[in-house]
Amino acid sequence: MARTFFVGGNFKMNGSKKSIHEIIERLNNTKLPENVEVVIAPPAPYLQQAVTENKQKTVYVSAQNSFDKASGAYTGEVSVEALKDLGVPYVILGHSERRTINKEDDAFIASKTKFALDQGLKVILCIGETLEEKQANITLDVVKRQLQAVVDVVSDWTNIVVAYEPVWAIGTGLAATPSDAQDVHKQIRDFLATVIGKDQAEKVRILYGGSVNGKNAVEFRDKADVDGFLVGGASLKPEFVDIINSRN
Ligand code: G3H
Repeated sequence: MARTFFVGGNFKMNGSKKSIHEIIERLNNTKLPENVEVVIAPPAPYLQQAVTENKQKTVYVSAQNSFDKASGAYTGEVSVEALKDLGVPYVILGHSERRTINKEDDAFIASKTKFALDQGLKVILCIGETLEEKQANITLDVVKRQLQAVVDVVSDWTNIVVAYEPVWAIGTGLAATPSDAQDVHKQIRDFLATVIGKDQAEKVRILYGGSVNGKNAVEFRDKADVDGFLVGGASLKPEFVDIINSRN
């Protein structure tokens, strides 16, 4: 079964009521391809607005984070229950910015992933190596370690989308080459086949993230294991539509 092409837009900590309205209106007023799943992840305060304003059947809303406890004295955290209450089906977990700035480790990310999945959310699970790790030739060791933490606690990967985002490519304008991305994606899928089984591994979508834009997205077109993109900066701009259309 072919994997549905997936384009995620991670707005990060950007936007206002007005700018997010404009992004959603642009999507609402565009004829989007029916065979592409689009996910937009505005900052938490704008999730309700995004859910309410989105009129496209192929566009879904994602949170940028959620916690691994149901409710209680966790000041500032985002509960899975609240996301479900708002009608938000996805959450991004394990983004390198949270791994680095918020000091989230593999075990915590795995715990949050399991909790979100158990409560019925879908998870965009981000993995990827730093520049130092790439230079030390340990890219595969790093992504396997990040994945293994989740494999240890989650056996059903149906509702996980993996986003391979090399940290050195995020926000730098230096995207991985399509062939390098394909190479890593293939090895990620091969690794997943050994730990969750070939059938599941074949179905898991593996996105590439890191300086994807309206121009370079088409260059990944013939890469068999690149099942879409997780887009940061360009998801705030009109070129996001070009990225959505890059496979068609
Ligand atoms: O989540 C998205 C990634 O961090 C990519 O960000 O497209 O701005 O490089 P970027």
